[in-house]
Amino acid sequence: MSYTISVAGSEISFVCDAQTTLLDAAQAAGFELPYSCRNGVCGNCRGQIRSGEYSAPDTGEGYLLFCQTRPRSDLVIVPRGITRIDPAARKVVQARVYRVTPAADDVSILQLRFPAGVKVQFKAGQYLDVLLEDGARRSFSMANPPHSSDGALLHIRRLPGGRFTEGVLPGLEPGSVVRVELPFGDFHLREDGAKPLVFVASGTGFAPIKSILEDMFRRGIARDMRLYWGARREKDLYAADLPHKWAAQHAHFRFVPVLSEPDAGWTGRTGFVHRAVMEDLPDLSGHEVYACGVTAMVEAARRDLTAERGLPMDAFYCDAFVTPADAAPAG
Ligand code: FES
Repeated sequence: MSYTISVAGSEISFVCDAQTTLLDAAQAAGFELPYSCRNGVCGNCRGQIRSGEYSAPDTGEGYLLFCQTRPRSDLVIVPRGITRIDPAARKVVQARVYRVTPAADDVSILQLRFPAGVKVQFKAGQYLDVLLEDGARRSFSMANPPHSSDGALLHIRRLPGGRFTEGVLPGLEPGSVVRVELPFGDFHLREDGAKPLVFVASGTGFAPIKSILEDMFRRGIARDMRLYWGARREKDLYAADLPHKWAAQHAHFRFVPVLSEPDAGWTGRTGFVHRAVMEDLPDLSGHEVYACGVTAMVEAARRDLTAERGLPMDAFYCDAFVTPADAAPAG
């Protein structure tokens, strides 16, 4: 049985059956609600339901997760935003491997080139899907900024048993074909403000933040900003030279590397990366925070920065990397 889902305060409506989530039904109808993980982890798809019956897990926080909510009647919903998907903007591309570079013990940098003449528009911070032969998909953020649109730069953390990262990636060599679809996701800079920015990354969560920062530097956006990048050991900060260089070049940018298992002789910050933010910034009520990385970090950052540092919920933007430990197989 299908139900009509109406978006409060708009002319938008779409149909959804009892087995389908509101997020999936909206996308099938050509509309995009905010989302990242699709697994009930990141909170990006949160919203409210003004009227109607539904089934959804209780978040205990006064909102629903539309990636987990299914209708039981016609509904009127109040999402944080909704946009019409531009079908021409998303493309499937036969990319070719230009280079695969080991960057850390468990991180490789995969550089893809699109066919001559093919450029794909995307926003800094968005991601692509690698399309595997059996129909499965693997999502990776693009680390290149939008002005480098003739290819994609992916920072890939190898996951034990990962079908792509262990089954496909080791066999890729220059010239290999990789089918990708892009762009996806709403992790991108909100440009309509002047608030100071805090970027929080764990591991390869640095990738989309690199894209956003390089885009901002190129466009001369000089908002006050800091990057906190957390990893276990120093060698896991696989591209730390880059933010150190940015900090030397831009007075409005600061870089704070944070190690959870510091090497002997490390004199920098230690502990959980979001805790370092809390130590430095006792009041985040006038900031925007962009967090990207493993779900545990993203969840902890959202919870603690909003509850203990006054960060407004709507000023927290995130992209959570869902791994097999969190949900369905990934990697
Ligand atoms: S997209 Fe629903 S919680 Fe992440």
